This record gives sequence, structure tokens and C-alpha cells, in this order.
Amino acid sequence: MNDAPPNITIERKHNHVELCLNEAVLFDAKTSGFEAFEFRHNALPELRFSDIGLATTFIGRKIAAPLMISSMTGGFDKAVMLNRRFAEAAEHFGIPLGIGSMRQALENGSQRESFSIVRKYAPSVPVLANIGAPEVAKGLSADDIRIILELVEADALIVHLNAAQELFQPEGDTDFRHVLHKLSRLAAAVPVPVIAKEVGCGISGECARKLLDAGVKVIDIAGAGGISWQKVEEFRYLRLAGKENRFSSEALGELLNWGIPTASCLIEVAELKKLPESPEFEIIASGGIRSGLDIAKALALGANIAASAGQLLKAVHEDHLEKTIETWLNDLRAVLFLTGTATPEQLRKQHLTYKNRQIFS
Ligand SMILES: Cc1cc2nc3c(=O)[nH]c(=O)nc-3n(C[C@H](O)[C@H](O)[C@H](O)COP(=O)(O)O)c2cc1C
Repeated sequence: MNDAPPNITIERKHNHVELCLNEAVLFDAKTSGFEAFEFRHNALPELRFSDIGLATTFIGRKIAAPLMISSMTGGFDKAVMLNRRFAEAAEHFGIPLGIGSMRQALENGSQRESFSIVRKYAPSVPVLANIGAPEVAKGLSADDIRIILELVEADALIVHLNAAQELFQPEGDTDFRHVLHKLSRLAAAVPVPVIAKEVGCGISGECARKLLDAGVKVIDIAGAGGISWQKVEEFRYLRLAGKENRFSSEALGELLNWGIPTASCLIEVAELKKLPESPEFEIIASGGIRSGLDIAKALALGANIAASAGQLLKAVHEDHLEKTIETWLNDLRAVLFLTGTATPEQLRKQHLTYKNRQIFS
């Protein structure tokens, strides 16, 4: 996500997968916040479990369940197989698939197969292209945009906002000037909806409002509670790059846990939907999703769909990706049944109770 030579970018994407699988990179001083909420039981569901349906819509497309496999990887050899497995699962379940940053596809033509393979195995579901805010700030040419979108026949373009990750990254690009302005020009120029996404520090209500004014159609809040990208990059900075600590030990713990918990972002961003002046937009809830119960709570707090990266990466690595997704969808069906709601749309109107009995809708 900077001017580092292409081989560093390949190595970095490889490191990311290995570190997420093998090191302690989850937030340890905060959670997604979903555990603070519960649904009210409905003793009279008045429906048959087998009639429950999970189908919904996303960016104008019908999808079979309100879950997305979030942007992860591409641009190195092992990514071909990973993206093939994610594509097969997305196609099997009829759910959207996010691609990892496609900067590599622009820098190195030889790495394009790891991206293009997804359309071979996921021909019918929404596939979302992905590029970083630093590339957007520098300015993407019309040709860059065409390559990214055509490579995966993208239904939307995700721009990831990852200031904390770049700050901790050994070769990080911390020039975030003019991102919003460039993003608004990009949104006006591309033929698909633009999605703004964090990578684990969350998008606040104020930031979401600016992004919507800039023409963004979907906000993926990607809040704190799952993988901390500060931790992933700190690992690369100290151990792999062998650099010296640059933050005080007093501040480091809090910086590594920097970010707005997913449930808090969701409540703030969903509030915008109630404002008469807000444009129509959709919300993806991600960051620390660990079950179908989390997906259900995300919907009840205002999300259109939920998305997961780290947990599904682990599942594919341990060869139980389809089983994990099926289990999460069963959790979700269970919540629909026990709240007496037959569809994700109805679940979105359900109230959650907070532990002090305050009601959230
Ligand atoms: C191995 C890996 C690579 C990732 N690479 C990208 C990326 O290139 N672009 C992006 O927008 N997000 C990327 N992410 C971030 C995720 O999409 C997600 O926002 C973040 O990990 C928080 O969600 P989680 O707690 O479910 O993992 C990556 C995640 C993982 C696990």
C-alpha cells in the first residue's frame, strides 16, 4: 500500500495470511460488543422452522443469506488456491465475496490469476473488487480502474480505509491527505457502487456521513473485535523487519487495541438511516463476527448483511469452511425461529435488549 517494490508487496500478502493463522493478532483488550446484547424470546413464534428463509438483497442483487466472505487476499501463489476455495464456498451458498487488495494486479501482471480465478468458481454471486485508500489518494487512472473491475467482473468496488494498519506497517504509506476528495471523484467515475470499508478500527457515524456525501453507497464498518491489523503489522515491524520499538510501553497496548467496537459503529452508522437528509445506503457489519448469533445481532442493530474474514480464513485452513458457514446459517435460523421472524428483513425490525434493559432498535 505504498511505493515498496512489488516483491515486498507479494511477501507482505503472504505474511498477512501466515500471521493471521499462527500468531496472537486478535484484539485482546476489547470485543466486538455483540455479547452485551440479547434478543427477547418469543414464546409464540407462529411459524414453522422449515419455512424460515435467509434470502435477502444486497447492492440490488438477490443473495441467499445475509453473509459475505470479506476481502482477504490475492497477489501471491498460495492466494490462487485460497481465493478458489472462498469462491467455491460463496457460489455454493449464494453469498457475496470480497477480494483482497488488487494493488498487486496493477503492479504485477503475473499475479492476476489469483484474482481472476474467483469468477471461474463464483460465476453467479456478487464479487467485490478492492483497493486501498493510499492508492485512491495518489489517484487511480481510468486504465487502473478498468483492469481492477474487469479482472473479477466486479459488481462493486471496495475502498479500504486502513490508517492504523499503514501506521504500524514497516513500509506503510501514511499519506492520507485528500482521500475523501479523490474518493468522491472515483465514486462519480466508476460504473459500479463504491463501498467504503475499514479493516478493523471501525467507521464512526461522522466518518460515514462524509463518505455518504462523497457518493459511497455502502459502508462496511469493519470495527474492532476481531483481527487487529496494528498487531499484524507490529509483528512484521519488530520480528520480520527487525526494527526497534517506536512507541512507549505505556501507550502500546492501547494503540494495538485502537478502534471502535463493531457494535458501537453499527449503532452510530445505522442512526444515519433515520435522518431525512441521508441518501439511501447499505451497511455491512464486520469485525469480529464469530457466529450466526453475531450475524443476527448485527442485523437487528441495523446491518443489511454481516461479513467475516479472520474466522473464515481459519476455517478454510482447517478444511471446514462450508461446515462453518452452514453452522452460522443454522444459528441465524435458530434466532429467526425463537424471535418469531421468518426473514432477515423482519429480524431487522426486532429489538435487542442491553444488559441494563435499555432497548435498542
Ligand atoms: C489475511 C487477511 C488479509 C486481508 N487483506 C485485506 C485486504 O487486502 N483488503 C481489505 O479491505 N481488507 C483486508 N483484510 C481485512 C478484513 O477484510 C477485515 O476487515 C478484518 O480482518 C476484520 O474482520 P475480521 O475480524 O472478521 O477478520 C484482510 C483480512 C485477512 C484475515
